[in-house]
Amino acid sequence: MIKNKKILIVGAGGFIGGHLVKRLLSDGNTVVASDIKPKEFWFQDFEKAKNFYEMDMKDIGNCRKVTKDIDYVFNMACNMGGMGFIENNKAECMQSVLINTNLLIACKEDKVEKYFFSSSACAYNKNKQQEVFIDGLKESDAYPADPEDGYGWEKLFSERMCRHFMEDYGIQVRVARYHNIYGPYGTYDGGREKAPAALCRKVLKAKKNNENNIEVWGDGKQTRTFLYIDDCVDGTLRLFESDYSEPVNIGSDEQVSINQMIEIIEKISNIKKLEKIYQLDKPKGVRGRSSNNDLVKKVLNWSYNIKLKDGLKKTYEWIDLESSKEGSNLNRFTKS
Ligand code: GDD
Repeated sequence: MIKNKKILIVGAGGFIGGHLVKRLLSDGNTVVASDIKPKEFWFQDFEKAKNFYEMDMKDIGNCRKVTKDIDYVFNMACNMGGMGFIENNKAECMQSVLINTNLLIACKEDKVEKYFFSSSACAYNKNKQQEVFIDGLKESDAYPADPEDGYGWEKLFSERMCRHFMEDYGIQVRVARYHNIYGPYGTYDGGREKAPAALCRKVLKAKKNNENNIEVWGDGKQTRTFLYIDDCVDGTLRLFESDYSEPVNIGSDEQVSINQMIEIIEKISNIKKLEKIYQLDKPKGVRGRSSNNDLVKKVLNWSYNIKLKDGLKKTYEWIDLESSKEGSNLNRFTKS
């Protein structure tokens, strides 16, 4: 367990970053938390964090302000979202390369001991994800490089930047390739939401309004593996403490189609089967994606815990509560 360290978390106002701050604080660390969003829009609030910064880390001057006397850095910051966002904002997504680059330079100057980079399954070669049911993607499947356009190229390039900072300057790096992380405090509306939250929201709306159908992007046969946020934080910390410096999948191996996930949510909601209106012109991403977890089991002796149906239940209940709060401000979840 990481304890008594001074840790900088960049992207602390976001979904995964917010959960990580919470965990590292409760484990007894000093946390310096930074995000580009004004504090009022951070997904979670942390009174115990030592310092908060509302700063754009694309600017190296800002990076230099926060890396002094820091033991560890977690870079959880990037401009991202589900398929609806990354397919339509490629230039925005690619600019996150400035965050990783400038932060690494500042970490090198300030002799930060260890650096974490949050990469993505979008780094994998698209040609290996063209069938509905594919074998899980192994870490070596990122090459030859042909990742998701925009967002995926940025992730793959930044992974390599980490690697070369380690080789050339000696900074320890750890890199996780996340496979569609979901759970409470994630975006569920406004355009950046990923499929689990979007579909929980749609089923909830159908239930509340007595509707008998929902809109689904694509034909519903596309597949993914989804990972619950608590497992993501556990896997991340386990990787961070390990000796392994190459990119590793952090994902589950419960591959489901979008139609199967909707069925699970319908059961959670206790609603009768909804008619699906398939929107074939909406962003669909790759046809089939799942995480091969052989390497993570071997090098970290780690596997995910929370089954999709249990994680979706917690997510559904949180969205239900959050969206029904009086004066609930959905914009809180949509600002970048
Ligand atoms: N977002 C969303 N909203 N997706 C939907 C919906 C909907 O209402 N209905 C069906 N889908 C389908 C999408 O068309 C896509 O085929 C699939 O659900 C998964 O969509 P997302 O969850 O938005 O994205 P993804 O799995 O393709 O990629 C996400 O995960 C990657 C890591 O695995 C993105 O968030 C990437 O940024 C991330 O790197």
